[in-house]
Amino acid sequence: MSADKRPLSQIRGPIRTEGEADALRAAWEAASREEPDTLTHGFHPWPARMHPAIARVILERSGAEALIDPFCGAGTTLIEARVRGARSLGVDLSPLAIRLARVKASVPSRASRAAFLEAAHAVAAASEARVRGRVPMTVALPPPIRARWDMHVLKELGGLREELRALDAPDALREALLLAFSSILTKVGRQRSETEEEIAPRRVRKGLATEIFLRKAVELERRWGELAAAARGPAPELVEGDARRLPELARGRRAPLILTSPPYGGTYDYAAHHAHRMAWLELDDRALRRGELGARRHASAPDARARWDRDVVAMLRAMAAVLEPSGAIVLVMGDASLGGEPVPVPAQLARLAPQAGLAVRGVASQARHGGRDEHLVRLHLAAR
Ligand SMILES: C[S@@+](CC[C@H](N)C(=O)[O-])C[C@H]1O[C@@H](n2cnc3c(N)ncnc32)[C@H](O)[C@@H]1O
Repeated sequence: MSADKRPLSQIRGPIRTEGEADALRAAWEAASREEPDTLTHGFHPWPARMHPAIARVILERSGAEALIDPFCGAGTTLIEARVRGARSLGVDLSPLAIRLARVKASVPSRASRAAFLEAAHAVAAASEARVRGRVPMTVALPPPIRARWDMHVLKELGGLREELRALDAPDALREALLLAFSSILTKVGRQRSETEEEIAPRRVRKGLATEIFLRKAVELERRWGELAAAARGPAPELVEGDARRLPELARGRRAPLILTSPPYGGTYDYAAHHAHRMAWLELDDRALRRGELGARRHASAPDARARWDRDVVAMLRAMAAVLEPSGAIVLVMGDASLGGEPVPVPAQLARLAPQAGLAVRGVASQARHGGRDEHLVRLHLAAR
């Protein structure tokens, strides 16, 4: 598996714990033993995707029948909640995340899956015919985005996109095919990796993009079949919005468990990492560009550390406001890197949690490459 696709948490190493950390330790241990790409989990790249074993173990150990994930990304916790039979609410500021979580946590009927496969084959056949017939194609993307593919690949992707646009199909089916298309964009491009936007030459033969698109659609259909056999709970509710506005977005609902992986300060830049996908899928990412928390693009600003502290307090306050009085918050977070300096998560959360009426009850940490650690942190309402 490429480094991009591997969740950070799959790296093995000693686990250090403090406080109430049995479940947290068990979650790290399961993550280091288990395959991360089961069910629909590995269908589409997502930087810092949570290892599904973490979500499963925390859900099992908490016994919670509902969870809220305010940074749901590609939907790991929501899929695991569905398998366990728990209700879930997922929030993310990225329109791509919300679409991906919806598709990955859905359980289409056998007939819908067959229709999906049929449509994927039809789109691929039409795209192949375009490539063979050298059908002229102009692609309307901003120049810096166009530069991420060789011209012949750009035209082939443009053809696939046109065929997807012309498809007469239910919205859910079209959305899933668009995400199969989205999943291949970096693989056939010159962008160095999912988290590095620099251009690095890559030879991609004619027809390969269409082949990989079809392969991904076939893979999704198979993964849906596996999820259908395992799922016991309802589809998640999904809301596109800023996690700092969680109480308003949750519209009065509270949960006994908030299980989430907020951005790792100064480490990723979801707006930049997915800019090519937003352009192809015509998604409006202006709110993400404005409101993304912890983005690497702000990591060297003079006030980066103060800003990250402010944002962490705001996200903790929002989570505290939707937590049931006897509930728990479990965060998966990596140490921040701001102004070239690490900001260790346990000390930061111990210092800031009281400002949100919360207290840290347990921590389990594991070392990661680059000298920073990744942590599972359990918080409760301080008054409890
Ligand atoms: C570490 S990822 C979550 C990964 C997720 N647990 C998974 O398994 O795919 C962090 C997420 O936070 C989202 N995000 C960043 N700023 C946000 C904000 N202000 N409100 C809500 N989501 C935000 C990003 O779009 C990204 O999906």
